[in-house]
Amino acid sequence: MVLCFSCSANGRLTWILALLLMMTRVHGQPTSGFISLDCGYRNNTPYNDSSIEGIQYQSDAGFVEGGLTHQISSVFMADAASESETTLRSFPDGSRNCYTLPSTPGKKFLVRAMFTYGDYDGLNRSMDGSLFLFGLHIGVNFWDTVNLTNWDPSIIVWKEVLTVAPGDSVSVCLVNFGSGTPFVSSLELRPLLDAMYPFVNTSVSVGQFGRFRFGNVTDFITRYPVDPYDRFWAASSFPYNTYPWTNVDTSKQVEILPGDDYFNVPMAIFQKATTLDTNYSIMSLDMAKGQNLDPESVRLLPIFHFAEISDNNPNRSFDIYNANDLLHRGFSPSRLQANSLYDSGQFLYNGDAIYTLNKTRSSILPPLINALEVYSLVWMENFTTEPEDVSYMKEVKKNYNLARTNWNGDPCSPREYSWEGLTCDYSKRNQNPRIVAVDLSTSGLKGGLVITFMNMASLENLDLSHNNLTGPIPDYQIKSLKVLDLSYNQLDGPIPNSILQRSQAGLLDLRLEGNPVCSKVKDTYCSNNKKKTTSTMAIAVIVPVVLVSLLVVMCILWKLCWKGKSGDSENYAMYEEETPLHIDIRRFTYAELKHITNDFHSIVGKGGFGTVYHGTMENGDEVAVKVLMETSIVESTDFLPEVQTLSKVHHKNLVTLQGYCQNKKCLALVYDFMHRGNLQQLLREGDDYSLNWEQRLHIALDSAQGLEYLHESCTPSIVHRDVKTANILLDKNLVGIIADFGLSRAFNDAHTHISTVAAGTLGYLDPEYHATFQLTIKTDVYSFGIVLLEIITGKPPILMDPHTYHLPNWVRQKIAKGSIQDIVDKRLLDQNDPSSLQGVVDLAMKCVESAAIDRPSMTEVVSRLKVLLPTTLSEKQYASASSTKSMNDEMRRQFHLLISGEGNDESSSSSRMTELIPLSGR
Ligand SMILES: *[C@@H]1O[C@H](CO)[C@@H](O)[C@H](O)[C@H]1NC(C)=O
Ligand SMILES: *[C@@H]1O[C@H](CO)[C@@H](O)[C@H](O)[C@H]1NC(C)=O
Ligand SMILES: *[C@@H]1O[C@H](CO)[C@@H](O)[C@H](O)[C@H]1NC(C)=O
Ligand SMILES: *[C@@H]1O[C@H](CO)[C@@H](O)[C@H](O)[C@H]1NC(C)=O
Ligand SMILES: *[C@@H]1O[C@H](CO)[C@@H](O)[C@H](O)[C@H]1NC(C)=O
Ligand SMILES: *[C@@H]1O[C@H](CO)[C@@H](O)[C@H](O)[C@H]1NC(C)=O
Ligand SMILES: *[C@@H]1O[C@H](CO)[C@@H](O)[C@H](O)[C@H]1NC(C)=O
Repeated sequence: MVLCFSCSANGRLTWILALLLMMTRVHGQPTSGFISLDCGYRNNTPYNDSSIEGIQYQSDAGFVEGGLTHQISSVFMADAASESETTLRSFPDGSRNCYTLPSTPGKKFLVRAMFTYGDYDGLNRSMDGSLFLFGLHIGVNFWDTVNLTNWDPSIIVWKEVLTVAPGDSVSVCLVNFGSGTPFVSSLELRPLLDAMYPFVNTSVSVGQFGRFRFGNVTDFITRYPVDPYDRFWAASSFPYNTYPWTNVDTSKQVEILPGDDYFNVPMAIFQKATTLDTNYSIMSLDMAKGQNLDPESVRLLPIFHFAEISDNNPNRSFDIYNANDLLHRGFSPSRLQANSLYDSGQFLYNGDAIYTLNKTRSSILPPLINALEVYSLVWMENFTTEPEDVSYMKEVKKNYNLARTNWNGDPCSPREYSWEGLTCDYSKRNQNPRIVAVDLSTSGLKGGLVITFMNMASLENLDLSHNNLTGPIPDYQIKSLKVLDLSYNQLDGPIPNSILQRSQAGLLDLRLEGNPVCSKVKDTYCSNNKKKTTSTMAIAVIVPVVLVSLLVVMCILWKLCWKGKSGDSENYAMYEEETPLHIDIRRFTYAELKHITNDFHSIVGKGGFGTVYHGTMENGDEVAVKVLMETSIVESTDFLPEVQTLSKVHHKNLVTLQGYCQNKKCLALVYDFMHRGNLQQLLREGDDYSLNWEQRLHIALDSAQGLEYLHESCTPSIVHRDVKTANILLDKNLVGIIADFGLSRAFNDAHTHISTVAAGTLGYLDPEYHATFQLTIKTDVYSFGIVLLEIITGKPPILMDPHTYHLPNWVRQKIAKGSIQDIVDKRLLDQNDPSSLQGVVDLAMKCVESAAIDRPSMTEVVSRLKVLLPTTLSEKQYASASSTKSMNDEMRRQFHLLISGEGNDESSSSSRMTELIPLSGR
């Protein structure tokens, strides 16, 4: 029997509720970082809304430029849910109007906008039968549509988005679609922790599609202060707390594992749940019965929150389906412990948003759920204008007091809302658009000529003709300017040499006719050379216009064609083609990298692929920024797919890729920073410090496990291709972590047509490779054998003294002549246990067998090394040896490890968390 549970979802990417906001009253902490704007509120003193404890609203006046303030109709005033809903700001002018909310670059925020029409204009617009809708942008990207068609004017609509601030502000824009005047009643910004909602990054934001809590909940909305992040959790229970739905609650503590800070769901929410009468077995949660959901384009990510709160030791397990697709099999909520299930970054193509929890055969109890969040993908594909250009344009705007209605939001992006009079260059893919021409002719400009324009590094054409500019022409350091039209102003000179020279050299087309300065000088730039002017201007204008129109027409045709044969899969394909690959890690801009690395100040390494710099992220995390040398790879189609693959590889012995940067200016990878450098450095260091035998064996095991994972757990297998001691990094606790995997592939494949660059490093290279040029996982095993020999001997792979020897040959000779102790690193002296030493030497020699077929697999290497480790297994080895443990054991262990403070730096615990996500898309 299928029960249908439906929540009133209305509106494409969100759902809208028909009741007043009744807030839970609990005393909370101060609301640090909250910005709460009561739009249209005219008083300058902030106030505390009586219905929401602890939140202080202020007027929106300082955050937006245009718009008119209104009050909702007196008919609805008395019933208004909160004071902030009684006023609003409408935007009859301009196609886009933006709010600018201050923020911190790279920080994660929840942004919420609320809309209560309340018939403020007396036009009964939401009920007159015509379409009433407008758009919302978050920054320069489309966020959602607010559809108030046939909408009860007293009802609040809200939209939420979780986003990463691209700069020192977040902008929210209202976009006029020609179907009614956009307005907004309140706007709220709430900081989140960086670790929260890990799938949200600079290129992916998510819109709230639904957020519910279950159980017998009396407040219609649970928000601040119960939820310190002021998320709205809607009670799903009230229409459904009838048979066979049953509610359970507990007053016992529900434990949230330390380190599990992805969602920080309040404990109060975990303490209530909904389940079914035991005669039932299927719980169906249907969220999308709204009329204007667009199932073709919406892509959803559900997050299920569970905690077993029934008494005793209940036997409960269930499968979770998205429509007919199994998301998770046999899930069993842990008793009094919070479990949040989500599929990392895998947005599902199911606009129907029906999730089914189906009791498994062995389960005694029916399914249970505590809370559910569903988010829709908001793809941040469009780039903001180069920040420098933006700030210069803002200076210009301020200086000349320009109140152009369309000069609102980002100057160039998205293209159709770019500022009137600007020409932007969008030609460089994956880069911020830049301003190349500014036309402010006949704009009533008064006063001096501002130098700001000349600082714009890509500006080529500046037209300030037919204004009332006065005074001298400043001594500009012209950068890229080719046309400077200052004709018909009140400029009276002098003309600085810097400009004259460029003009005389033919580098600058200067026009000054119609200025007092021309009464003194008679030069070509003062003559009325209209003909030349108009013709070059015409070309300058017509060519881009024609090109742009052609592009627009082509885009429209292309879109129409696609629409014509739109099926789910094709739409999906179009989506993928239109945009770069969906990569779930942060994408950095060059400016961000520059900032993070303090202008590439400190080099921590140089490798085959480039230079590695030390960096510090906004949140203080240290990173290693590897700037790749090869620029031709930008053109290569291999780089991004490779990054995508690497971003999905998570293992505690593999370095975690945090982000990347790819554009003309920069090609870089950002990794976790490893404090102890690499194994090569440590082995070659002087006598004062050296790794002991046990530490060396642990590092060998760690790296073997990393390689085993690449070979055996990734499909297709990833061949590292460049295993060497310099690529084995060490974290604070001397855990070995493999770096640089996968990269070689993108690099070499990109170049096969140019040269046959040998993969790998001299001394580590599989002899069979020389013969066959075939790279296999056994190539890595060979290189690993060399690493083992280095670990034992402390010697480099190629010895120069007195003759040149390859390390394996040197070892063979020494052993043949004398004893095994002769090859051992002198610094190890008597630490090594002879049987373990013999075993490791044997293993290393097996790995460097010249025929690949004679070498062991990495799995065999791992199990051999485990046996060879000294017998007292510490907690650390236990932790590293048990990647196959079940999720619960893993969680418990993590808990244990964190409490005992055992070797867990932040990076390794976060990568372990990723491994735990049961619904991983891999
Ligand atoms: C409003 O609330 C804030 C805390 O959010 C508090 O500091 C302030 O005193 C309150 N103001 C009034 C007038 O109650
Ligand atoms: C708004 O229009 C609807 C439908 O035409 C009508 O039923 C309703 O009475 C109108 N409300 C007002 C306040 O005029
Ligand atoms: C990005 O910009 C293009 C061109 O202006 C626009 O058509 C598109 O809708 C924008 N994408 C988003 C996600 O806003
Ligand atoms: C829900 O809880 C309230 C008290 O919080 C109680 O009065 C009410 O009876 C409960 N309803 C159900 C259906 O359990
Ligand atoms: C807006 O809502 C109306 C009625 O609720 C619906 O007919 C219309 O298709 C919706 N429009 C969009 C663009 O969602
Ligand atoms: C639920 O699980 C049972 C087996 O346990 C299976 O027969 C049934 O088809 C499943 N129902 C759904 C809707 O997946
Ligand atoms: C310049 O200012 C004068 C008055 O100061 C005014 O009459 C004239 O129209 C202005 N010219 C332009 C082009 O704005």
